[in-house]
Amino acid sequence: MERVLVTRALPDDWLEPLAAAGLELDVIEQDEAPSDELLRSRAPGCAALLVMLGDRVDAALLDAAGAQLRAVATMSVGVDHIELAACRARGVAVANTPDVLTDATADLAMALLLALARRLAEGEALLRSGAWSGWGPQQLLGRDLAAARVLIIGPGRIGSAFARRVVAFGARVAYHGRRRRPELEAELGAHFEAELDTALTRAEVLSLHAPLTEATHHLLDARRLRLLPRGALLVNTARGPLVDEAALVEALRDGHLAGAGLDVFEREPAVHPGLLTLPNVVLLPHLGSATQGTRRAMADLATGAINAVLRGASPENLISS
Ligand code: GLV
Repeated sequence: MERVLVTRALPDDWLEPLAAAGLELDVIEQDEAPSDELLRSRAPGCAALLVMLGDRVDAALLDAAGAQLRAVATMSVGVDHIELAACRARGVAVANTPDVLTDATADLAMALLLALARRLAEGEALLRSGAWSGWGPQQLLGRDLAAARVLIIGPGRIGSAFARRVVAFGARVAYHGRRRRPELEAELGAHFEAELDTALTRAEVLSLHAPLTEATHHLLDARRLRLLPRGALLVNTARGPLVDEAALVEALRDGHLAGAGLDVFEREPAVHPGLLTLPNVVLLPHLGSATQGTRRAMADLATGAINAVLRGASPENLISS
């Protein structure tokens, strides 16, 4: 019987497709990410690994698993935790979960933007503190999204879905990415910005949707954060290391940025202590795809990919690079 290592506790019905295919399941029954050592100790002999975005899949884990390993499926769209070249070199197929989490993640980015623009966290804190003395004409004034200039870095599936949402709120959209997206320009009147530095100088709101690669690590460093106009808002639902978090804290502290809505952090689950004390940030524990329907759909894609690879097929959600 072939064995699949599942790196987190998951509902039985999510794993049913693997059991129904006659696979033996070895589930690490915990919610938090297992250590590298624990992963390496459980991987030997497995035909497939069902992993999450906090699990490092590197050459050491693949070698610990052994030559019979044929598939790694991750319940995430991001694959920055997986050494793709090491998988390719060992003939291990890698699958992710695109499409099914697009709306949930774009919704969360929109929620963060609305929370920032209308200062929801500050308002709620005021009310809960008991210090609210009633309606005031200048109290907690926020921003209008109508006509705001929103820059999207990484206009892929989630970036495009976010663009549709902000356009519905009346904002104007510009985007920066590796290639031009004529369909986005035609559909939303989105403006292509070829030069990132120039684009930043024009953005009142910046939302990040790029994958994390060597090229995008600290894409927003201290210099680029300062290119944003004073008072800009930043939303990050992509990956924390796209932003130099220490530089971000400085830019928020001295008021260069008016606020940041962050669902992802540079060293998850650690959060820069400076962020925790700032009133003008909204911080979420990486909830982008966290809806019941979306997570179930992600599980179905991941288990479907494992079943397909193990019976010699090539599912659509294989990573090709
Ligand atoms: C979430 O961050 C994902 O990559 O799915």
